Amino acid sequence: MNEQTKARIKELQKEKDVVILAHYYVDGEVQEIADYVGDSYYLAKVATTVEQQNILFCGVSFMGESAKLLNAKKHVYMADDGADCPMAHMAEVEKIEEVRKEYPDVAVVCYVNSTAELKAHSDVCVTSSNALKIVKALPNKDIYFIPDYNLAHFIAEQVPEKHFIFNDGFCHVHKSIHSEDVKKAKELHPDALVLAHPECTSDTLALADFIGSTSQIIDYATASDSKKFLICTEMGVFYELMQKNPDKKFFSVGHRQFCPNMKKVSLDKVLEKLEDLKDEVILPEEMCEQAKKPLDEMLRLAQ
Ligand code: 13P
Ligand code: SF4
Repeated sequence: MNEQTKARIKELQKEKDVVILAHYYVDGEVQEIADYVGDSYYLAKVATTVEQQNILFCGVSFMGESAKLLNAKKHVYMADDGADCPMAHMAEVEKIEEVRKEYPDVAVVCYVNSTAELKAHSDVCVTSSNALKIVKALPNKDIYFIPDYNLAHFIAEQVPEKHFIFNDGFCHVHKSIHSEDVKKAKELHPDALVLAHPECTSDTLALADFIGSTSQIIDYATASDSKKFLICTEMGVFYELMQKNPDKKFFSVGHRQFCPNMKKVSLDKVLEKLEDLKDEVILPEEMCEQAKKPLDEMLRLAQ
């Protein structure tokens, strides 16, 4: 059945000139049929280089919005229109304006896990893989980092010369990877290295041997001589980790390492979307112009 679905997906892609981009958190069988799989930064970059006129995104809505903002002329579709990242909404435009009044030289640094509206009120976007580089490159001392508190805190610790104003957004998936669970897992696997995503809380990050984006975690495990790893991020990364490292062992540390929104994407939904290509990602024109600027700035500074 899956084989039939996969064959039909490939046929429709060709017929309708569609490229499929997928994030590491979607199911392995969806990653398998995608043309490009990666972390948020890679996918945003790749979206600017693809030749096809239609992009089908297997991920959450902020990823599709970023692809559309960076490629106004292309048609972008979400494999599941309801897949949204709750953290993307956890900041307020009014608060940004207040901070700008209080700190006239502030740089509003917007994690790419954010709505297009929040991006439109920001100066530069970042992802977990380039946030440190970009914050360091900014001339501003005052940094208002939205929406994620944990990533902001992780970066702030590494640039003590900057003054951070924090926001209280969070990822419910990474927040529930508790340090107590990591400690228990370390007792069970004392020789395993702990690899964590910076959306985890600081007590969990304190136990990590390596902290990085989804791609960076995969690259680190692949390059490492170690044979065992405790993975503190969403379970979807296990697919690529195991593909690249069949001789290594990867363990989760809890039962909640599961993003319900990323997991809404399925092969059947990909096929359904390809059949009718409807409900394209559309953003108001004025917002597009404003929200594209911080994404362009990210691509420029991250080079
Ligand atoms: P990456 O940028 O590491 O892919 O992370 C995206 C994300 O949603 C993390 O929860
Ligand atoms: Fe959003 Fe967290 Fe899911 Fe990433 S894992 S998409 S931050 S809810």
